[in-house]
Amino acid sequence: MQTVQTILEKHRVSDSLAQAIHCVLDCSKEISVLLQKGAMAGVLGSAENENVQGETQKKLDVISNDLLKERLAECPVVAGIASEEEDLPVAANEDGQYLVIYDPLDGSSNIDINVTVGTIFSILPSRGEDPSKEATYLQNGRQQVAAGYVLYGPATMLVMSTGKGVDIFTLDPTSNEFVLTQEQVQITPSTKEFAINMSNQRFWAEPVQTYVSDLLAGEEGPLAKRYNMRWIAAMVAEVHRILNRGGIFMYPWDNREPNKPGKLRLMYEGNPMSMLVEQAGGLSVNGEINIMDIEPEKIHQRVPVFLGSKEEVEKALSYHKA
Ligand code: F6P
Ligand code: MN
Repeated sequence: MQTVQTILEKHRVSDSLAQAIHCVLDCSKEISVLLQKGAMAGVLGSAENENVQGETQKKLDVISNDLLKERLAECPVVAGIASEEEDLPVAANEDGQYLVIYDPLDGSSNIDINVTVGTIFSILPSRGEDPSKEATYLQNGRQQVAAGYVLYGPATMLVMSTGKGVDIFTLDPTSNEFVLTQEQVQITPSTKEFAINMSNQRFWAEPVQTYVSDLLAGEEGPLAKRYNMRWIAAMVAEVHRILNRGGIFMYPWDNREPNKPGKLRLMYEGNPMSMLVEQAGGLSVNGEINIMDIEPEKIHQRVPVFLGSKEEVEKALSYHKA
């Protein structure tokens, strides 16, 4: 049996980075228990607050965020944290080497209906800079030393990269250990499956309109293939499906609201997912460039996302370049 620790050692990950990862995983195990108890733990439904994005928080968004925040503050290698559910970064330990940025519970509209959600994390070096300042966190995705997500579905799974490929672990409820179940996964380069929230169609820019209408045209259209569509409304679940059987996931820019370049957030959704996708041989772009090459200007910055099977993402990109 190979555990997370076995793989971290195999990839020669430093003890300090391993410690930061284990701190995140400890919290994810607690979140997993709360999700399994669901209504019995009194954790379903809405909290009374809105987050910095103006979205109503679910109780479990707040509980998961607090769990991670408190645990990571006690983790000596962590210098600071930034979270989807925190307006500002939170300084942790003076001597910490890492910044942990996370989406505590991705896909939270799925919580109350017992459908897959997840915790997404991105770990950056702190470089001795002030962890209470936003500027310290504004590093591009290429600086990530580790990224991953814990998916809470029928099974709780960890998908992680420390820059040496992507490994998948399943939480064994008997031993409460994440056990290696898929080593070095690769995304198939071509696909017949796409994921996009079609209800936003009228708000999309022209290149996405054309590309999606060509997908829908199937074997009679210019792409000469019959495509299938899936939409789980949790990025973790879409990325998980794509890692396992390929596909393209899109959350493009749309003009529903002015000055809002897409729905997803660069630093705790776009970047960590892009690291996993690229490490698994896929591609992840914003319609112009690779997401991890974007220089962030704000912790809560949004980004259009096209990720997944390399050939399909290149196709989507070619519509933007045309
Ligand atoms: O975190 C944002 C998120 O919940 C993603 O996980 C998911 O892909 C997307 O929003 C769902 O968006 P929509 O509400 O448009 O279906
Ligand atoms: Mn999210």
